[in-house]
Amino acid sequence: SNVTFTMIKPDAVKNGNIGNILQMINNAGFRIVAMKYTKLSLEQAGKFYEVHSARPFYGELTEFMSSGPIVAAILEKENAVADFRTLIGATNPAEAAEGTIRKKYATSIGENAVHGSDSDENALIEGSFFFSGLERF
Ligand code: GTP
Ligand code: MG
Repeated sequence: SNVTFTMIKPDAVKNGNIGNILQMINNAGFRIVAMKYTKLSLEQAGKFYEVHSARPFYGELTEFMSSGPIVAAILEKENAVADFRTLIGATNPAEAAEGTIRKKYATSIGENAVHGSDSDENALIEGSFFFSGLERF
């Protein structure tokens, strides 16, 4: 598939990095198919990250993701899922490669600036969590 789903997380929104991150996404050749500025409730964050519900950091993760506004977007590009994960870098910014979004803008393994889908299947599920068909262009 040629789409992936991303969120600019509450830390990056608070730090004023929406514009910087969107510029990196555009410069890497992704087209924005859908985008919204919104805020998750704790319950919605819990549902979005349900796949991680058994992990020890689930509570911390869902509290963080509902702590402030985010930007959610669907992105299109050839090989979108893998190329976007390369662009964002490792989960832990200490391990993220130079030039990646997390190397530049993440502060910790939990507050790591951006989300990127990990498979084509999850890209569709996650995109549909935020957007209806009428909101994609
Ligand atoms: P996403 O693109 O956000 O899914 O990140 P990822 O695929 O690189 O990591 P993963 O799916 O394994 O974990 C999801 C999110 O949980 C991460 O992006 C972090 O925000 C958070 N997370 C992962 N590991 C830890 C941890 O050890 N501690 C805390 N507090 N948060 C973590
Ligand atoms: Mg993940």
